[in-house]
Amino acid sequence: SPAADNGTASHPNGTLQQLPQIIIIGVRKGGTRALIEMLSLHSAVVAAQNEVHFFDWESHFQKGLPWYLSQMPYAFPEQLTVEKTPAYFTSGKVPKRIYQMNPNIKLLLILRDPTERVLSDYTQVFYNRLQKHKRYQPIESVLVKDGEINLGYKALNRSLYYVHMQNWLQYFPLESIHVVDGDRLIKDPLPEMKKVERFLKLEPQINASNFYFNKTKGFYCLRDHGRERCLHDSKGRAHPHVAPAILQKLYQFFHQPNKKFFELVGRTFNWK
Ligand code: A3P
Repeated sequence: SPAADNGTASHPNGTLQQLPQIIIIGVRKGGTRALIEMLSLHSAVVAAQNEVHFFDWESHFQKGLPWYLSQMPYAFPEQLTVEKTPAYFTSGKVPKRIYQMNPNIKLLLILRDPTERVLSDYTQVFYNRLQKHKRYQPIESVLVKDGEINLGYKALNRSLYYVHMQNWLQYFPLESIHVVDGDRLIKDPLPEMKKVERFLKLEPQINASNFYFNKTKGFYCLRDHGRERCLHDSKGRAHPHVAPAILQKLYQFFHQPNKKFFELVGRTFNWK
């Protein structure tokens, strides 16, 4: 049905499409799929299935909010709608656009150790290229150029969290952005999800029975009304081996940027 003036589109069974009240803005490879799936365990939350790329892709953005609304899942009026597009976090034009849609929106940002994120980013591109029967340079020749960290490698920039966070803080107060610790979400998802529930002012509902550790996968999987499921095989892949000396260089490279990020958000993380 067509979009109504109040930013909703309704369906006869009492459900309606709503603009999201919550957006998971990133970071790419931070654990965004795990986060949205875990958040969907809550009965008051309905998640868009796909990455919408509304605010970052011009071809989508120019279609306007009615198109964005049409991408949202049907929800009951008392439920909250969430979408995740990890590329939003590192796209400079996105904060203003989201602000213009809803300055009071709640934003979730899931981060992990920046070096780990780079290796995960590389692994994703590696497998994408493999699928297309294309070659990709070995990790070390992407990371290092002439004996130094290769600043031209884009994945490094995506891990400079303070650079991107500054853009968001131009539009949103810190209270509107909850940072989920992606390393902790891997090791022990429940405490991180309880914090997310609190930030979103949701009734406490997600509990220990919603998670079980799957030894084969090596990750936590989800239990929803007795149904058990793990994330897709593309989530939780082994990363390539990197020589310790290069890893050290990476840790060093991120040391100051990490400190700047901790200062920005008034909180520290256990990153190498
Ligand atoms: P790796 O595959 O590099 O380990 P995103 O969904 O943003 O692309 O993030 C993918 C990352 O989510 C994975 O990166 C994995 O480490 C992390 N993750 C967190 N919790 C997970 C879970 N329960 N199952 C699988 N992957 C999980």
